[in-house]
Amino acid sequence: MANSQPPIRNLKLIRPLVRGLHAYVPGEQPKIKGLIKLNTNENPYPPSPKVLAAVKNAADGRLRLYPNPTAQALREKLARLHGCKPENIIVGNGSDELLALATRAFVEPAPALIEPTAVVLRPRPWRYSVQYFTPSYSLYPVLAEIHGALASAIPLKPDFSLPSVAELKHGEMWEFHAALTFVTTPNAPSGRGYKTSELEKLCRAQRGVVVLDEAYVDFAEENALKLALRFPHVLVARTFSKAYSLCFQRVGYFVGHHDLIATLDKIRDSYNVNGLGQIAAMATLGDLKYYRANFKKIIAAREWLSRELTKLGFRVFPSRTNFILAKPPLFPAKEWLQKMRDRKILVRWFSAPEVRDYLRITIGTQAEAAALVKAARAIL
Ligand SMILES: Cc1ncc(COP(=O)(O)O)c(C=O)c1O
Repeated sequence: MANSQPPIRNLKLIRPLVRGLHAYVPGEQPKIKGLIKLNTNENPYPPSPKVLAAVKNAADGRLRLYPNPTAQALREKLARLHGCKPENIIVGNGSDELLALATRAFVEPAPALIEPTAVVLRPRPWRYSVQYFTPSYSLYPVLAEIHGALASAIPLKPDFSLPSVAELKHGEMWEFHAALTFVTTPNAPSGRGYKTSELEKLCRAQRGVVVLDEAYVDFAEENALKLALRFPHVLVARTFSKAYSLCFQRVGYFVGHHDLIATLDKIRDSYNVNGLGQIAAMATLGDLKYYRANFKKIIAAREWLSRELTKLGFRVFPSRTNFILAKPPLFPAKEWLQKMRDRKILVRWFSAPEVRDYLRITIGTQAEAAALVKAARAIL
Protein backbone atom coordinates (compact mmCIF):
# COMPACT_ATOMS: atom_id res chain seq x y z
CA MET A 1 0.00 0.00 0.00
CA ALA A 2 1.41 3.41 -0.96
CA ASN A 3 2.12 5.69 1.98
CA SER A 4 -0.24 8.66 1.73
CA GLN A 5 1.42 10.63 4.56
CA PRO A 6 3.68 13.51 3.55
CA PRO A 7 7.35 13.06 4.56
CA ILE A 8 8.54 14.60 7.84
CA ARG A 9 10.28 17.85 6.95
CA ASN A 10 11.61 18.55 10.42
CA LEU A 11 14.58 16.21 10.26
CA LYS A 12 15.68 17.38 13.71
CA LEU A 13 13.06 14.97 15.08
CA ILE A 14 15.38 12.11 14.17
CA ARG A 15 18.93 11.77 15.53
CA PRO A 16 21.50 12.45 12.77
CA LEU A 17 23.19 9.12 13.45
CA VAL A 18 19.93 7.25 12.94
CA ARG A 19 19.01 9.26 9.85
CA GLY A 20 22.19 8.10 8.12
CA LEU A 21 21.95 4.46 9.24
CA HIS A 22 22.14 1.48 6.90
CA ALA A 23 19.77 -1.11 8.33
CA TYR A 24 20.56 -4.82 8.37
CA VAL A 25 19.03 -6.58 5.39
CA PRO A 26 17.62 -9.99 6.35
CA GLY A 27 17.24 -12.76 3.77
CA GLU A 28 13.99 -12.78 1.82
CA GLN A 29 10.97 -14.65 3.17
CA PRO A 30 8.87 -14.96 0.02
CA LYS A 31 5.67 -16.99 0.02
CA ILE A 32 5.94 -18.65 -3.39
CA LYS A 33 4.21 -21.99 -3.79
CA GLY A 34 6.62 -24.87 -4.36
CA LEU A 35 9.69 -22.72 -3.66
CA ILE A 36 12.74 -24.56 -2.32
CA LYS A 37 13.98 -22.07 0.23
CA LEU A 38 17.72 -22.36 0.82
CA ASN A 39 18.56 -18.72 1.58
CA THR A 40 18.38 -18.12 5.35
CA ASN A 41 19.94 -21.20 6.94
CA GLU A 42 16.67 -22.41 8.37
CA ASN A 43 16.43 -26.08 9.32
CA PRO A 44 14.49 -28.17 6.80
CA TYR A 45 13.05 -30.39 9.55
CA PRO A 46 10.21 -29.26 11.82
CA PRO A 47 10.62 -28.99 15.59
CA SER A 48 10.21 -32.31 17.43
CA PRO A 49 6.60 -33.49 17.94
CA LYS A 50 7.17 -33.01 21.68
CA VAL A 51 8.01 -29.34 21.11
CA LEU A 52 4.94 -28.78 18.94
CA ALA A 53 2.76 -30.49 21.57
CA ALA A 54 4.26 -28.37 24.37
CA VAL A 55 3.59 -25.14 22.47
CA LYS A 56 0.03 -26.18 21.57
CA ASN A 57 -0.71 -27.18 25.17
CA ALA A 58 0.58 -23.83 26.42
CA ALA A 59 -1.56 -21.78 24.01
CA ASP A 60 -4.43 -21.23 26.44
CA GLY A 61 -5.63 -18.67 28.97
CA ARG A 62 -2.06 -18.29 30.26
CA LEU A 63 -1.31 -16.05 27.31
CA ARG A 64 -2.76 -13.17 29.34
CA LEU A 65 0.09 -13.50 31.88
CA TYR A 66 3.63 -12.16 31.60
CA PRO A 67 6.22 -14.89 31.09
CA ASN A 68 9.02 -15.57 33.56
CA PRO A 69 11.20 -12.44 33.27
CA THR A 70 14.54 -14.25 33.50
CA ALA A 71 13.63 -17.48 31.66
CA GLN A 72 14.61 -19.12 34.94
CA ALA A 73 13.55 -22.72 34.20
CA LEU A 74 15.20 -22.62 30.77
CA ARG A 75 18.42 -21.20 32.20
CA GLU A 76 18.45 -23.97 34.83
CA LYS A 77 18.09 -26.63 32.14
CA LEU A 78 20.76 -25.00 29.96
CA ALA A 79 23.09 -24.76 32.96
CA ARG A 80 22.72 -28.51 33.57
CA LEU A 81 23.41 -29.19 29.90
CA HIS A 82 26.57 -27.06 29.86
CA GLY A 83 27.88 -27.86 33.33
CA CYS A 84 27.59 -24.32 34.69
CA LYS A 85 25.24 -22.26 36.85
CA PRO A 86 22.08 -20.41 35.74
CA GLU A 87 23.96 -17.18 36.61
CA ASN A 88 26.33 -17.99 33.73
CA ILE A 89 23.47 -17.80 31.23
CA ILE A 90 21.30 -15.07 29.76
CA VAL A 91 18.51 -15.87 27.32
CA GLY A 92 17.55 -13.44 24.57
CA ASN A 93 14.95 -12.81 21.92
CA GLY A 94 17.19 -14.66 19.48
CA SER A 95 20.94 -14.38 19.85
CA ASP A 96 20.69 -11.20 17.75
CA GLU A 97 19.23 -9.39 20.74
CA LEU A 98 22.17 -10.45 22.90
CA LEU A 99 24.72 -9.38 20.28
CA ALA A 100 23.08 -5.95 20.37
CA LEU A 101 23.06 -5.89 24.18
CA ALA A 102 26.77 -6.77 24.25
CA THR A 103 27.49 -3.82 21.96
CA ARG A 104 25.56 -1.49 24.24
CA ALA A 105 27.04 -2.88 27.45
CA PHE A 106 30.73 -3.10 26.57
CA VAL A 107 31.45 -0.43 23.95
CA GLU A 108 31.49 3.33 24.43
CA PRO A 109 29.73 5.28 21.69
CA ALA A 110 32.37 7.30 19.87
CA PRO A 111 31.87 11.02 20.60
CA ALA A 112 32.91 12.08 17.10
CA LEU A 113 30.32 9.77 15.55
CA ILE A 114 27.47 10.83 17.77
CA GLU A 115 28.19 14.53 17.65
CA PRO A 116 30.21 15.47 14.57
CA THR A 117 31.53 18.64 16.20
CA ALA A 118 32.88 16.82 19.26
CA VAL A 119 36.60 16.50 19.71
CA VAL A 120 38.46 13.59 18.25
CA LEU A 121 38.49 10.04 19.51
CA ARG A 122 42.02 9.72 20.75
CA PRO A 123 43.68 8.85 23.07
CA ARG A 124 41.92 5.49 23.46
CA PRO A 125 39.95 4.63 20.34
CA TRP A 126 39.69 0.95 21.27
CA ARG A 127 37.07 1.80 23.90
CA TYR A 128 34.81 2.69 20.97
CA SER A 129 35.69 -0.27 18.80
CA VAL A 130 33.58 -3.23 17.68
CA GLN A 131 35.99 -5.54 15.93
CA TYR A 132 35.24 -8.57 13.74
CA PHE A 133 36.69 -10.55 10.89
CA THR A 134 35.41 -10.17 7.41
CA PRO A 135 33.59 -11.85 5.90
CA SER A 136 31.47 -12.82 8.91
CA TYR A 137 27.97 -12.12 10.18
CA SER A 138 26.87 -8.91 8.47
CA LEU A 139 24.91 -7.78 11.53
CA TYR A 140 28.04 -6.80 13.50
CA PRO A 141 28.84 -3.57 11.61
CA VAL A 142 25.17 -2.61 11.78
CA LEU A 143 25.16 -3.01 15.56
CA ALA A 144 28.27 -0.85 15.80
CA GLU A 145 26.71 1.79 13.59
CA ILE A 146 23.43 1.89 15.52
CA HIS A 147 25.38 2.35 18.74
CA GLY A 148 27.63 5.05 17.32
CA ALA A 149 30.69 2.87 17.82
CA LEU A 150 33.58 2.29 15.44
CA ALA A 151 33.23 -0.81 13.28
CA SER A 152 36.58 -2.39 12.59
CA ALA A 153 36.61 -5.17 9.98
CA ILE A 154 39.78 -7.24 9.66
CA PRO A 155 40.09 -9.65 6.73
CA LEU A 156 40.25 -13.40 7.27
CA LYS A 157 42.86 -15.19 5.18
CA PRO A 158 41.85 -15.95 1.56
CA ASP A 159 40.74 -19.48 2.54
CA PHE A 160 38.66 -17.92 5.38
CA SER A 161 40.98 -19.29 8.06
CA LEU A 162 41.82 -17.15 11.10
CA PRO A 163 45.07 -15.20 11.07
CA SER A 164 47.28 -16.39 13.94
CA VAL A 165 47.93 -14.10 16.91
CA ALA A 166 51.47 -13.56 15.56
CA GLU A 167 50.05 -12.50 12.19
CA LEU A 168 47.56 -10.18 13.87
CA LYS A 169 50.38 -8.63 15.89
CA HIS A 170 52.40 -8.22 12.73
CA GLY A 171 49.60 -6.53 10.79
CA GLU A 172 48.62 -3.09 11.98
CA MET A 173 44.87 -3.28 11.93
CA TRP A 174 43.96 -5.74 14.65
CA GLU A 175 43.33 -4.17 18.04
CA PHE A 176 44.04 -6.40 21.02
CA HIS A 177 42.34 -3.86 23.28
CA ALA A 178 39.13 -3.53 21.22
CA ALA A 179 36.19 -3.14 23.60
CA LEU A 180 34.31 -5.91 21.82
CA THR A 181 35.42 -8.56 19.33
CA PHE A 182 32.94 -10.80 17.52
CA VAL A 183 34.17 -14.10 16.06
CA THR A 184 31.68 -16.19 14.08
CA THR A 185 32.73 -19.78 14.69
CA PRO A 186 32.18 -21.77 12.57
CA ASN A 187 32.41 -18.85 10.19
CA ALA A 188 29.45 -17.54 8.22
CA PRO A 189 29.14 -17.19 5.27
CA SER A 190 32.13 -19.41 4.44
CA GLY A 191 31.15 -22.35 6.67
CA ARG A 192 34.77 -22.78 7.76
CA GLY A 193 35.30 -24.35 11.20
CA TYR A 194 37.93 -23.16 13.68
CA LYS A 195 39.85 -25.19 16.22
CA THR A 196 39.14 -24.42 19.86
CA SER A 197 42.90 -24.31 20.42
CA GLU A 198 43.33 -21.42 17.94
CA LEU A 199 40.31 -19.59 19.38
CA GLU A 200 41.83 -20.01 22.81
CA LYS A 201 45.07 -18.34 21.68
CA LEU A 202 43.08 -15.43 20.29
CA CYS A 203 40.99 -15.12 23.45
CA ARG A 204 44.12 -15.14 25.62
CA ALA A 205 45.56 -12.28 23.59
CA GLN A 206 42.45 -10.07 23.73
CA ARG A 207 42.02 -7.48 26.48
CA GLY A 208 38.39 -6.54 25.72
CA VAL A 209 35.28 -8.73 25.63
CA VAL A 210 35.22 -11.51 23.02
CA VAL A 211 31.94 -13.00 21.80
CA LEU A 212 32.37 -16.37 20.10
CA ASP A 213 29.22 -16.57 17.99
CA GLU A 214 28.49 -20.28 17.72
CA ALA A 215 25.17 -20.03 15.88
CA TYR A 216 26.07 -23.04 13.68
CA VAL A 217 28.24 -25.04 16.04
CA ASP A 218 25.98 -28.09 16.25
CA PHE A 219 26.97 -28.95 12.68
CA ALA A 220 30.68 -28.71 13.51
CA GLU A 221 33.19 -31.06 15.10
CA GLU A 222 34.28 -28.84 17.98
CA ASN A 223 32.78 -26.12 20.12
CA ALA A 224 34.48 -23.56 22.31
CA LEU A 225 32.03 -23.39 25.19
CA LYS A 226 34.72 -24.20 27.72
CA LEU A 227 36.46 -20.92 26.86
CA ALA A 228 33.43 -18.97 28.11
CA LEU A 229 33.64 -20.81 31.40
CA ARG A 230 37.40 -20.44 31.67
CA PHE A 231 38.01 -16.81 30.66
CA PRO A 232 36.13 -13.96 32.38
CA HIS A 233 36.11 -11.83 29.21
CA VAL A 234 34.76 -14.48 26.81
CA LEU A 235 31.10 -15.08 25.99
CA VAL A 236 29.74 -17.86 23.80
CA ALA A 237 26.56 -17.14 21.81
CA ARG A 238 24.18 -19.96 20.92
CA THR A 239 20.79 -20.05 19.26
CA PHE A 240 17.80 -22.37 18.99
CA SER A 241 17.14 -20.99 15.50
CA LYS A 242 19.34 -23.13 13.28
CA ALA A 243 20.08 -26.58 14.66
CA TYR A 244 16.90 -26.65 16.75
CA SER A 245 14.39 -25.56 14.08
CA LEU A 246 13.04 -22.68 16.15
CA CYS A 247 13.69 -19.44 14.22
CA PHE A 248 10.04 -18.52 14.55
CA GLN A 249 10.17 -18.45 18.33
CA ARG A 250 13.33 -16.32 18.64
CA VAL A 251 15.38 -17.87 21.43
CA GLY A 252 19.14 -17.56 21.82
CA TYR A 253 21.51 -17.40 24.78
CA PHE A 254 24.97 -16.40 25.96
CA VAL A 255 27.17 -18.37 28.33
CA GLY A 256 29.91 -16.62 30.29
CA HIS A 257 31.21 -15.17 33.53
CA HIS A 258 28.40 -14.22 35.90
CA ASP A 259 29.56 -10.59 36.06
CA LEU A 260 29.32 -10.13 32.29
CA ILE A 261 25.99 -11.95 32.26
CA ALA A 262 24.66 -9.77 35.12
CA THR A 263 25.76 -6.67 33.18
CA LEU A 264 23.77 -7.73 30.12
CA ASP A 265 20.86 -8.66 32.34
CA LYS A 266 20.71 -5.08 33.66
CA ILE A 267 20.07 -3.57 30.26
CA ARG A 268 17.69 -6.06 28.66
CA ASP A 269 13.92 -5.59 28.45
CA SER A 270 12.14 -7.05 31.47
CA TYR A 271 10.27 -9.69 29.46
CA ASN A 272 12.64 -10.10 26.54
CA VAL A 273 11.86 -13.76 25.86
CA ASN A 274 8.25 -14.59 25.06
CA GLY A 275 6.53 -17.36 27.03
CA LEU A 276 5.90 -19.76 24.17
CA GLY A 277 9.53 -19.39 23.12
CA GLN A 278 10.67 -20.38 26.63
CA ILE A 279 8.34 -23.39 26.60
CA ALA A 280 9.46 -24.46 23.12
CA ALA A 281 13.14 -24.17 24.06
CA MET A 282 12.60 -26.19 27.26
CA ALA A 283 10.83 -28.93 25.33
CA THR A 284 13.64 -28.89 22.76
CA LEU A 285 16.17 -29.66 25.48
CA GLY A 286 13.96 -32.57 26.51
CA ASP A 287 14.24 -34.21 23.08
CA LEU A 288 17.84 -33.69 21.97
CA LYS A 289 17.95 -37.17 20.43
CA TYR A 290 15.49 -36.04 17.76
CA TYR A 291 17.68 -33.05 16.85
CA ARG A 292 20.93 -35.01 16.84
CA ALA A 293 19.41 -37.37 14.27
CA ASN A 294 18.56 -34.31 12.13
CA PHE A 295 22.12 -32.94 12.42
CA LYS A 296 23.37 -36.22 10.95
CA LYS A 297 20.95 -36.00 8.01
CA ILE A 298 21.89 -32.39 7.31
CA ILE A 299 25.62 -33.14 7.50
CA ALA A 300 25.19 -36.10 5.11
CA ALA A 301 23.24 -33.88 2.65
CA ARG A 302 25.93 -31.19 2.98
CA GLU A 303 28.72 -33.58 2.10
CA TRP A 304 26.72 -35.06 -0.81
CA LEU A 305 25.82 -31.63 -2.21
CA SER A 306 29.41 -30.41 -1.88
CA ARG A 307 30.68 -33.42 -3.84
CA GLU A 308 28.02 -33.15 -6.57
CA LEU A 309 28.49 -29.40 -7.08
CA THR A 310 32.27 -29.88 -7.21
CA LYS A 311 31.76 -32.44 -10.01
CA LEU A 312 29.78 -29.77 -11.90
CA GLY A 313 32.64 -27.28 -11.67
CA PHE A 314 31.63 -25.32 -8.57
CA ARG A 315 34.39 -24.42 -6.12
CA VAL A 316 32.93 -25.48 -2.78
CA PHE A 317 34.58 -24.62 0.54
CA PRO A 318 34.56 -27.35 3.19
CA SER A 319 31.73 -26.52 5.59
CA ARG A 320 31.14 -27.21 9.28
CA THR A 321 27.70 -25.57 9.20
CA ASN A 322 24.26 -26.12 7.66
CA PHE A 323 25.20 -24.16 4.53
CA ILE A 324 27.94 -24.13 1.92
CA LEU A 325 29.69 -21.31 0.12
CA ALA A 326 30.22 -22.18 -3.53
CA LYS A 327 31.72 -20.34 -6.49
CA PRO A 328 29.68 -21.29 -9.53
CA PRO A 329 31.19 -21.89 -12.98
CA LEU A 330 30.42 -20.16 -16.27
CA PHE A 331 28.27 -17.20 -15.10
CA PRO A 332 28.68 -14.66 -12.31
CA ALA A 333 27.14 -15.76 -8.99
CA LYS A 334 24.48 -13.03 -9.19
CA GLU A 335 23.24 -14.49 -12.48
CA TRP A 336 23.13 -17.94 -10.93
CA LEU A 337 20.95 -16.53 -8.17
CA GLN A 338 18.37 -15.46 -10.76
CA LYS A 339 18.69 -18.63 -12.84
CA MET A 340 18.07 -20.73 -9.73
CA ARG A 341 15.18 -18.51 -8.76
CA ASP A 342 13.63 -19.02 -12.20
CA ARG A 343 13.64 -22.72 -11.27
CA LYS A 344 12.02 -21.98 -7.91
CA ILE A 345 15.17 -22.46 -5.86
CA LEU A 346 16.12 -19.58 -3.62
CA VAL A 347 19.74 -19.30 -2.45
CA ARG A 348 21.64 -16.29 -1.08
CA TRP A 349 24.05 -13.93 -2.76
CA PHE A 350 25.94 -11.15 -0.95
CA SER A 351 27.25 -8.07 -2.70
CA ALA A 352 30.26 -7.66 -0.36
CA PRO A 353 33.48 -7.80 -2.46
CA GLU A 354 34.99 -10.78 -0.59
CA VAL A 355 32.00 -13.01 -1.35
CA ARG A 356 30.29 -11.56 -4.42
CA ASP A 357 31.59 -14.41 -6.58
CA TYR A 358 29.87 -17.01 -4.41
CA LEU A 359 26.46 -18.39 -3.60
CA ARG A 360 25.60 -19.34 -0.05
CA ILE A 361 23.38 -22.39 -0.13
CA THR A 362 21.52 -23.60 2.95
CA ILE A 363 21.46 -27.36 3.36
CA GLY A 364 17.91 -28.61 3.13
CA THR A 365 16.69 -32.18 2.85
CA GLN A 366 18.44 -34.69 0.60
CA ALA A 367 15.56 -34.29 -1.90
CA GLU A 368 16.07 -30.49 -1.95
CA ALA A 369 19.81 -30.98 -2.49
CA ALA A 370 19.05 -33.34 -5.40
CA ALA A 371 16.64 -30.77 -6.90
CA LEU A 372 19.35 -28.11 -6.67
CA VAL A 373 21.90 -30.31 -8.42
CA LYS A 374 19.35 -31.09 -11.14
CA ALA A 375 18.68 -27.37 -11.61
CA ALA A 376 22.43 -26.61 -11.74
CA ARG A 377 22.86 -29.29 -14.43
CA ALA A 378 20.02 -27.78 -16.44
CA ILE A 379 21.52 -24.28 -16.14
CA LEU A 380 24.89 -25.54 -17.34
C1 LIG B 1 26.40 -15.99 12.76
C2 LIG B 1 25.02 -15.74 13.25
N1 LIG B 1 24.84 -15.36 14.52
C3 LIG B 1 23.62 -15.11 15.02
C4 LIG B 1 22.50 -15.25 14.22
C5 LIG B 1 21.16 -14.87 14.80
O1 LIG B 1 20.45 -15.92 15.27
P1 LIG B 1 19.10 -15.71 16.05
O2 LIG B 1 18.04 -16.27 15.20
O3 LIG B 1 19.30 -16.49 17.34
O4 LIG B 1 18.92 -14.25 16.34
C6 LIG B 1 22.63 -15.63 12.90
C7 LIG B 1 21.44 -15.73 12.05
O5 LIG B 1 21.47 -15.77 10.85
C8 LIG B 1 23.92 -15.88 12.40
O6 LIG B 1 24.10 -16.24 11.12
